[in-house]
Formats: sequence, C-alpha cells, structure tokens
Amino acid sequence: MQNAADARYDKTARLLHWLVVILVAAQFVIGWTMPDVHRDTKPIGEIAWHLGVGTALIAVMAGRIVWRATHQPPSQSMPKALRAVSALTHGALYVLLLVVPLLGWINASSRTWVVKLGGLVALPSLSASGSSFGHAMGDVHSALAWVLLVLIGLHIAGALYHRFVLGDGVLQRMLP
Ligand code: HEM
Ligand code: HEM
Repeated sequence: MQNAADARYDKTARLLHWLVVILVAAQFVIGWTMPDVHRDTKPIGEIAWHLGVGTALIAVMAGRIVWRATHQPPSQSMPKALRAVSALTHGALYVLLLVVPLLGWINASSRTWVVKLGGLVALPSLSASGSSFGHAMGDVHSALAWVLLVLIGLHIAGALYHRFVLGDGVLQRMLP
C-alpha cells in the first residue's frame, strides 16, 4: 500500500483548499453578523467586506478548478461506495462554492451596488438595477448558503470518519 505521506495532495492543492476554508468561514461569519439588507442599505462596513471576501473566493475557486482540471488527485484505495459519496460531495462543494457567491453578486448588482474584487477592483454588473430576478437570487443565495453549510458539515464528518474510524490516510492527504 502507498505511504500516506507520498499520497498527499500537492502544495498548491493544499494551499488552495485551506485558503478556501478560511474565506468561506469568514463569509459565513460576516453574512450572519452584517446588518440586514434592505432597499436603502448601502454596501459599506461589514457588507463591503462580504462582497470583497466573496469575490476573492470566486477568484481562488477559479484557480482551484483550473488546478483540478489539470491534475489528478493522489490515488487512494477506498471502498467503491465511499468513493462515490466523496466524489458526489466534492462535486457539489465545487458547484456551490461558485454558484452561491455568483448569486450574491447578481443580487448586489440588482441593488446597483458596485461589486469589487477583494474590495479593490470594480467588477461588471450581473443584473439590471431593480430586476426581480436579481431580487429573487438574493433569497436563493441565502438558502443555498445553508445547503453549502450542511455539505461542509458532512465533508468534515467524512474527514474525521476516515481519521478516527477507518484509520486510513485520507485526512493526512489534505493537511497543511
Ligand atoms: C461562498 C460565499 C458566500 C457565502 C457563504 C455567503 C453567505 C451569506 C449569508 C449567510 C448571508 C445572510 C443570509 C441571511 O441572513 O438571510 C448572505 C447575504 C448576502 N450576501 Fe452572501 N455569501 C457569499 C458570497 C457573496 C458574494 C460574492 C456576494 C456579492 C458579491 C454576496 C452578497 C450577499 C448579499 C447582497 C446578501 C444579502 C442578501 C439579501 O438579504 O437579499 N455574498 N450571504
Ligand atoms: C469550508 C470548508 C471546506 C470546504 C469548502 C472543503 C472543500 C473540499 C473539496 C472541494 C475537496 C475536494 C478536493 C479535490 O479532490 O478536488 C476537499 C478535499 C478534502 N478536504 Fe476539504 N473542505 C473544507 C474543510 C475541510 C476540513 C475542515 C477538513 C479536515 C477536517 C477537510 C479535509 C479534506 C480532505 C482530507 C480532503 C481530501 C479528500 C480525499 O483525499 O479524497 N476539509 N475539500
């Protein structure tokens, strides 16, 4: 069997994974503690941070998807069913980590807010001012953030299951 240390994800993959973890954790904290967003709300303070950190997350995810499309994860012997559950969870995480922030951006645009990458570089508007589609996407954004949270919980439970129940080297593959 392969040595766990040899079968780790490479440095870039591990860096991107933990960078995304930090950014997503920050997004939930900011999203939950920022003021409620109403018709006349201005994108300042914590809300500006939510947009800046969220767009930085989109950029990091874009890099991560490029990495993933051009690299194979290290091989690991795992029961077929577990492999399928893990592939499904990872796939859904990738999709939601792009869709959730994009929907937030669409909603922000419909409020005529200028969304800035990392709070610095202005990005284009993704929906017309006052559009009902943009408004509805704000609700979908908030609802899908919960789905994302549940998946993250499942993913962490899976990582701990590998470490403490199966005792295989899967968790070590992604440790910094
Ligand atoms: C994975 C990344 C993100 C997560 C986990 C996230 C999470 C959240 C959460 C938890 C809320 C509060 C929902 C509530 O209490 O009802 C929220 C609201 C909001 N977020 Fe995000 N967010 C993300 C990315 C973004 C991005 C990139 C933008 C814009 C560029 C954005 C714009 C907004 C807006 C405008 C609201 C208020 C929506 C409304 O009340 O209609 N979010 N987000
Ligand atoms: C915001 C939280 C997290 C997100 C969004 C996330 C996302 C992901 C994604 C998308 C992958 C798939 C990588 C690939 O093969 O392309 C992955 C792999 C992995 N993650 Fe996370 N992760 C999070 C938190 C954690 C935490 C807290 C742990 C440890 C307790 C962890 C441990 C792992 C491990 C061990 C792998 C590799 C699994 C394997 O080799 O099949 N993750 N993560």
